[in-house]
Amino acid sequence: MVISMGYNIAIDGPAGAGKSTIAKRAAKALGFIYVDTGAMYRAMGIFLMREGVDMADAAAISAKCREADITIRYENGEQVVYLNGENVNGVIRSEQAGTMASLTSQNPDVRKKLVELQQKLAADADVVMDGRDIGTCVLPNAQVKVYLTAGSKVRAMRRYNELTAKGEACDIDIIEKDIIERDHQDMTREISPLRQAEDAVLIDSSDMTIEEVAAQIIALAKKQAD
Ligand code: DC
Repeated sequence: MVISMGYNIAIDGPAGAGKSTIAKRAAKALGFIYVDTGAMYRAMGIFLMREGVDMADAAAISAKCREADITIRYENGEQVVYLNGENVNGVIRSEQAGTMASLTSQNPDVRKKLVELQQKLAADADVVMDGRDIGTCVLPNAQVKVYLTAGSKVRAMRRYNELTAKGEACDIDIIEKDIIERDHQDMTREISPLRQAEDAVLIDSSDMTIEEVAAQIIALAKKQAD
């Protein structure tokens, strides 16, 4: 099997479906770069929040987002997101950053800026890229497209286990409610809503382990490249 430069694997799906964990594993196994596009929207959300921009004011978001310089570097094999020169990996994982990202990602100027960055990354390297619109908009010619999902209860339980393992107090019903709300926001927005690309393979991970899902994606990539 020969996988050449610019081999693209697109993984889309709702919040908490396990996209990043699985994409990271598949990338490692294939020797590809993992690109987490949600992290870029999270960095933009943090920037606009810090600048005190009103999330209901689309013109203000469009104007301000130009001042955010978001870059990606790979340090020790990990994606590091820089916002105007600051490493923001430590602040983008919060629930608040996720909510801000979901809101700001509705803006066409935010999307244009970040999609350009994502396409540039994928043009130069073999990537596993995850997000909401990768198979439909960012990399329409990706060699492998996957739509990864799981029931909202399962996704809420996974998030609950993650948070409690870190010693954080949380309520599973509130987590599930937030997940459903974010899905709705991401699926019903006007520009590049979350949806399964016509040529994407649907994987429902509700009753699958991380290893099983990663193995299925790796097999799809190998089969496609043979
Ligand atoms: O995958 P995540 O939870 O880190 O993404 C945070 C938000 O960013 C998500 O709710 C919607 C937005 N997003 C997007 O609009 N397009 C992408 N390709 C990735 C994320």
